Amino acid sequence: MKASIEKALNDQINAELYSAYLYKSMEMYLHSIDLPGMANWMKVQVQEELAHAEGLIQFVNLRGGRVMLAAIEGPKKEWKSAAEVFADAYDHESKVVTVKIHKLVDLAIKEKDHAFNQFLQWYVAEQVEEEDNTSTLLRKLKKIGDHMPSLMQVDAQLATRVFTAPVIPGTTVGGP
Ligand SMILES: [Fe+2]
Ligand SMILES: [Fe+2]
Repeated sequence: MKASIEKALNDQINAELYSAYLYKSMEMYLHSIDLPGMANWMKVQVQEELAHAEGLIQFVNLRGGRVMLAAIEGPKKEWKSAAEVFADAYDHESKVVTVKIHKLVDLAIKEKDHAFNQFLQWYVAEQVEEEDNTSTLLRKLKKIGDHMPSLMQVDAQLATRVFTAPVIPGTTVGGP
């Protein structure tokens, strides 16, 4: 594996761990404003992000690269509302993570690393899902506004989310 690819993968591992840290911070905020269902949704999202990082880690190891863990930036800690939390989550996925994943694909193409490109396709598809999840919730929360009964209803719905490890091809993540 080329050094430029190893470096880019290490950066992406850091970005996924940062996502987990950011969502954990969002979970803590939602918990503090008594929205345990939404906090649960974020808790599951944290687990997903850790799985994304683990998939990348296994790929680096499989290709004979070396994972070098770096410092994780401190996340935002305060928001004004649940809607603002999900607006941030959507922005983070669409404006930061998806852009990073697409840049990795550009690099794979530039370096003609077809195995890397193929591996990344799962992450490309996953970003479509992540953007859809957060934007759907955001639209719902914008519609609801301050209407407490509806907010409680959404909170109850999100309390049912359970973690199922994503199956990342070429890794043991989500596998047996
Ligand atoms: Fe992710
Ligand atoms: Fe996901």
